[in-house]
Amino acid sequence: MLYLFEDFALDTERRELRRESRTIPVQPQVFDLLEYLIRHRERVASKDDLIAAIWGGRIVSESALTTRINAARTAIGDSGEDQRLIKTLPRKGVRFVGAVQEAAGSTAPPLEETRRLELTAAPHVKAGPAERRQLTVASCELMLGVTAARMDPEDLREIIDRCHDCIAETAHRHNGYIANTVGNTALICFGYPQAHEDDAEGAARAGLDLIATLKALKSPISLQTRIGIATGVVVVGDHIGSGGTQTPSIVGETPNLAARLQSIADPNTVVIAEDTRQLLGNLFDLQDLGTQNPKGVAESMRVFAVLRPSSVEGRFEALHGTGLTELVGREEERELLLRRWSRVKTGEGQVVLLSGEAGIGKSRLTAALIEKLAEEPLATLRYFCSPQHTDSALYPIISQMERTAGFAFDDAPQAKLD
Ligand SMILES: Nc1ncnc2c1ncn2[C@@H]1O[C@H](COP(=O)(O)OP(=O)(O)OP(=O)(O)O)[C@@H](O)[C@H]1O
Ligand SMILES: [Mg+2]
Repeated sequence: MLYLFEDFALDTERRELRRESRTIPVQPQVFDLLEYLIRHRERVASKDDLIAAIWGGRIVSESALTTRINAARTAIGDSGEDQRLIKTLPRKGVRFVGAVQEAAGSTAPPLEETRRLELTAAPHVKAGPAERRQLTVASCELMLGVTAARMDPEDLREIIDRCHDCIAETAHRHNGYIANTVGNTALICFGYPQAHEDDAEGAARAGLDLIATLKALKSPISLQTRIGIATGVVVVGDHIGSGGTQTPSIVGETPNLAARLQSIADPNTVVIAEDTRQLLGNLFDLQDLGTQNPKGVAESMRVFAVLRPSSVEGRFEALHGTGLTELVGREEERELLLRRWSRVKTGEGQVVLLSGEAGIGKSRLTAALIEKLAEEPLATLRYFCSPQHTDSALYPIISQMERTAGFAFDDAPQAKLD
């Protein structure tokens, strides 16, 4: 079945969302959600309906559903404010309100053509007016090895297409978008059009994920990649000149630096410079590659290879590894927590919920409490959510168990079982 709305087509046979002739990458669950909403557009779909349709009734958090709804809106150029196509009815659910035509079968151009286009320009990112902002940019080069040169170009193209799909999917999952692909190199931007607190982390995780995904891809030739990541201020927005493309242009030293870092990276490694390292705190295990002067870069700089996500217990400590500022004020809150603790010691279990705006000092206060109770005979279990894992409702528990069991990042399933 083909559902047509505005200039979009949702093709349920091929499981593709297309806009004009381009395929828009969407996660499987986002596709399921769109299909369900459009198929049942005559009524409001409740939260339970959607969870049953997408997750087969498994228990998932409300935020997992909200994330999918937002992703579906973004994919079809809608937003929570506009609600042009997907409308939220408070306390009832959501409904697809756009005009839809149904057509049988698939009228799209052959798959290969659409695939290719999707990468040359990420269709869901439209250039706004040029603005100055901080971006993290990852330059990823596919290294195909010598056998590739002897392959038939059509077979090779098929493999490269599959790799590009992996790159697009990985970038999308970590809130990045592909700004540009030239030959075997893709430039992925993190922090545009929307900036996130964890853009640098997203870039590093995307890099590691990409290496792992390409390693796992079945292919007749050796597939490797190397990635350089840089962070800095650029001007991004409207395309310069009259090329007619709608993708944003990025002007500044950062994309160049990312490409230079990529060129000094070993196969299957991610290399970053100092600016990105500062944003990553201790979230990753790094290898210091010393001071280098990549070709085409004015100054020499310290560079690092990102090895794996580190096994630090808490995100707060990881991001504030060195030198916490002295705790200021908060006497009342601290005393209240200590009073609760003295009740615990008398055998009366206590739960304290600490809530407040982002950055108000919740983690800092908790750290102060843990420090204060360091001498006491107690076991501490800490669970941290992560903005990078919003698709996994049990992520805090899984990661806590993995830490306790001492799993390493690249342990094979068998090693974990043992
Ligand atoms: N009372 C305080 N004294 C000194 N520094 C503080 C205090 N409260 C917060 N800070 C500092 O402010 C910054 C933000 O605090 P923190 O990370 O604890 O906020 P949060 O409420 O946990 O934020 P989020 O919701 O983003 O997790 C940290 O660098 C922290 O060290
Ligand atoms: Mg916090």
